[in-house]
Amino acid sequence: MTDLLQAMKDRHSVRSYLIRPIEGTKAALLYKAVQESNRESGLHIQLMLNEPKAFSGRLARYGSFHNVNSYFAIVAKDGMEEAVGYYGEKLVLLAQRLRLNTCWVAVTYSRRKVPCECAPGEKLRIVIAVGYGETQGVPHKEKDRLITDMYRTQGDIPDWFRVGMEAAMLAPTALNQQKFRFYLRGNTVRAKALPGPYTKIDLGIVKCHFELAAGKENFSWV
Ligand SMILES: Cc1cc2nc3c(=O)[nH]c(=O)nc-3n(C[C@H](O)[C@H](O)[C@H](O)COP(=O)(O)O)c2cc1C
Repeated sequence: MTDLLQAMKDRHSVRSYLIRPIEGTKAALLYKAVQESNRESGLHIQLMLNEPKAFSGRLARYGSFHNVNSYFAIVAKDGMEEAVGYYGEKLVLLAQRLRLNTCWVAVTYSRRKVPCECAPGEKLRIVIAVGYGETQGVPHKEKDRLITDMYRTQGDIPDWFRVGMEAAMLAPTALNQQKFRFYLRGNTVRAKALPGPYTKIDLGIVKCHFELAAGKENFSWV
């Protein structure tokens, strides 16, 4: 658990990578985690190792991406946005614990060049760049939003909820928009996405952070 919380604190989006392949042992752990996520969720996540084409076009350059050679391609059916965020972020945190860097990317890459498999009804929804970063990235000031603005409750705040909210605030969101709200009632928690681009994927990411930090045994989602 401390490991996971530390990974959440240490993680920042990284867009420039070293030309250093992900070693076999680490790649094996990532593949295994992908398989487990797919089995549990019904997503069709694929780990693309040594595949530079998706990040070699105009959009990736415009997005300041350099030397992205590996990424997770998250393929899913319609209506699975929250699962995309939740399971994708689990992979992000695993990568961070393996001392790799990551960046969620919805727009600034060449979608058509991704050689992923899509079964009928499935589409490539988003990718997550992964590899050895040139740096560890930087924390973002805009995230220092008042935590009390992000939830509503009527009673006192239990420790598990506070810890969960702190972790939720560290989660990456598209455009750093943090468009989510949490509602606490007794030991039930509701989390809601506000309108905006990719906020349903953001919600899955944020719920992943909250749940890992708050502890599943302390509350139930409603
Ligand atoms: C759903 C989603 C989509 C994103 N899409 C892009 C993108 O297309 N290009 C990009 O450079 N960064 C993208 N990002 C990264 C965000 O800009 C970044 O997570 C945010 O600014 C917060 O910074 P941090 O990850 O360092 O905490 C995306 C993040 C998320 C969660």
